[in-house]
Parts: sequence; structure tokens; C-alpha cells
Amino acid sequence: MQNRQILLKSRPEGWVTNENFGIDNCDVPELSEGQVMVRTVYLSVDPYLRGRMNDAKSYVPPFAIGGPIDSGIVGQVIESRFEGLSEGDYVLGRLPWALVSATNGKELYKLDPDIAPLSYYLGILGMPGQTAWVGLKAIGNLQEGENVFVSGASGAVGQVVGQIAKNMGCHVVGSAGGADKVAYLRELGFDGAIDYKATPNLFKAVAESCPNGVDVYFENVGGDILEAVINVLNFKARIAVCGYISAYNSTLADMPPGPRNLPILIGRGARMEGFIVSQYPKECAEWVQTGAQWLKEGKLKYRETIVEGLENAPNAFVDMLKGKNMGKMIVKVADE
Ligand SMILES: NC(=O)c1ccc[n+]([C@@H]2O[C@H](COP(=O)([O-])OP(=O)(O)OC[C@H]3O[C@@H](n4cnc5c(N)ncnc54)[C@H](OP(=O)(O)O)[C@@H]3O)[C@@H](O)[C@H]2O)c1
Repeated sequence: MQNRQILLKSRPEGWVTNENFGIDNCDVPELSEGQVMVRTVYLSVDPYLRGRMNDAKSYVPPFAIGGPIDSGIVGQVIESRFEGLSEGDYVLGRLPWALVSATNGKELYKLDPDIAPLSYYLGILGMPGQTAWVGLKAIGNLQEGENVFVSGASGAVGQVVGQIAKNMGCHVVGSAGGADKVAYLRELGFDGAIDYKATPNLFKAVAESCPNGVDVYFENVGGDILEAVINVLNFKARIAVCGYISAYNSTLADMPPGPRNLPILIGRGARMEGFIVSQYPKECAEWVQTGAQWLKEGKLKYRETIVEGLENAPNAFVDMLKGKNMGKMIVKVADE
């Protein structure tokens, strides 16, 4: 059997394009003791992969030029030399963007397909859903009935943030790009939804949608929306800095300046704290339980954009960074 994988061909300067990726026909890897062979079913395209395309020190190592791209993968075991996993088992792991991969069995997490659709383990029950929970609970210290704002609100993380906060009786406002995305936020029960691409005055729109101010701001985007929310922060507000996607394709030289109104944090006794989800394993495990229970009880919805074919993964990634996804962007590599 022939294998195929997606490689990093060159490092992007500014916006990433399909030309930064390559596709390689290669041999199926040999299986060693303790390893399993996994055929990829779904792969996750995530904004943080953009950072890994740069040659920069970060919390995850950069991709090597000529080396495979990897990310969260849901796959099926097709051969096992590891005691804890058998042929046919579905697993989650960080694996190369390839048709099949050999990997250590102990680095994989066995999935139960009866709990939720398998792709949900890359979204609402996986890293993005866990990020929403960690940001709101561990960083934002969200309390019942508070006022929440989330940017990037219809995305993989944002749609979960809004629903967790609604399930906690909060007033929730979100921003997203486009009428269809804003309509989805309303469908989810958001109290306010701002189409930042069509709003001439973001400061006014945010102030009007948040009549009682903002206690917790879940930041996914940065830039103008951050300034607009800082203006309406309440006393002792918390900003959970999860992401800053508006700057991911900028180089240091053309990075926009930070929020002009940052001094507002002083008088309002507000706190701004960044986080990386993997640094909170206890809260992540808590979300997998809570999220599965809430899904069962019908307390959560989840939208995905599923693109078919391994060769379309680079384009799916570029499209996601441009906002062409509705909800979590996933690539389906093979049938379940
Ligand atoms: N800290 C952590 O551990 C952690 C973990 C996971 C994710 N994150 C971060 O969380 C954020 C959301 O990730 P996700 O996986 O849920 O992605 P996502 O929201 O599903 O997809 C990315 C979205 O970003 C928006 N976007 C792109 N450029 C933008 C710009 N210039 N201004 C405003 N919005 C822009 C687009 O939506 P619109 O159409 O609405 O513009 C796009 O659909 C990212 O910043 C990511 O890096 C952090």
C-alpha cells in the first residue's frame, strides 16, 4: 500500500498560501513493538499551526521544512503491536497529515464512538472545547449570571464559549464575520451578536450590546474588537487571552500596535491573562465529562465545516484563517 503525506515546503512570509505545502507519496512505515498503525479518518486544521510554520521558539516546536505537518487526528487502528489497542479501535492523537501513520500506542487516546460523532473529538469534546472551558473557568473565573463577550464567536472555540456561558445563566454577546455567522449566534441563544465586518462603529455596537458592561472577555481575535471591549469592562473584569488571530499572518515588523486604551485596566482593577489549554489537564478532563453530559442532555449544539480529501487539507487551513469556515474546520480523509 502506498502512503501520502502533506509536508511544509516553505515558510510563509505574511499570509500562508497553498504553495507553502507539498504532498509526498511515501512508503507505509514499519511497525515496531509497542506501536500501532492508524489510518487517518479526520484531521484538524487549527489556527495555532500557523505559528508552527514560522521558525520561531514557541510552546510547540516549529515544523521542519520538508517535514510532515501534524495536528490532532482521529483515526482507526488497522494493526497493533501495543497491548492496550486492537484492530478496529478508534483513537485520537497528534499525528502527521498522512493516510496512515505508525505511532506509539501509549500516546493515543481510545475513543468511544457511542458518546459523540467521532469528529467532535477534534472540536467540542477535543482541544477547542477544552480551551473554551479552561478560558472561562480557570482564567476568567466565570460566575453564574455575569456578562460575557467573546470574539471569533462562531468558530470552533467561540461557539462553545458562548454556550457554556449561556448554560451558566450569563448575558452573552459575541462578534463574528458575516451575516450567516451572526445568525448562528442568535440561534445559539446569544443575547447580542455583532458582525464586525459590517459594523461601521465597533465601539458603539459593543457598548449598545453590553448595557451592563463586560465581566469576562474571551479574546480570540485581538485588534479593534479588543479596544472596543476594553472600553466597557466592569470593575474587576477578567480578559482571558486565548488567541489573537488578527495578527497571525503579520511579521513582527508589521504587527499592529497594542490596544490604545489599555490604561483603562488600571482604574477598573481588570486583569488580562494569556493561557495555553494543555497547561490545564485537570480542567480539560473536567470538560470532556461535562461537555459529553451536556451534549446528551441537548444543552449544546455544534457546527462543523467538513472538507473531503487529504490533498485539500492545506486549502482548508488557508480558508479557515480567512474565515471561510462555519464552526470547526475538519478534513475528512477517509470514511469511518
Ligand atoms: N490558547 C489556547 O490554548 C488556544 C487553543 C485553541 C485555540 N486558540 C485560539 O483560539 C482562537 C480561535 O480558534 P478556533 O480553532 O476556534 O478557530 P475558528 O474560530 O474556528 O477559525 C478561525 C476564525 O478566525 C476568524 N478570523 C480570522 N482572521 C480574523 C481577523 N483578522 N479578525 C477577526 N477574526 C478573524 C475567522 O472568523 P470570522 O469569519 O468571524 O472572522 C475564522 O473563521 C484562535 O485565535 C486560536 O489561536 C487558543
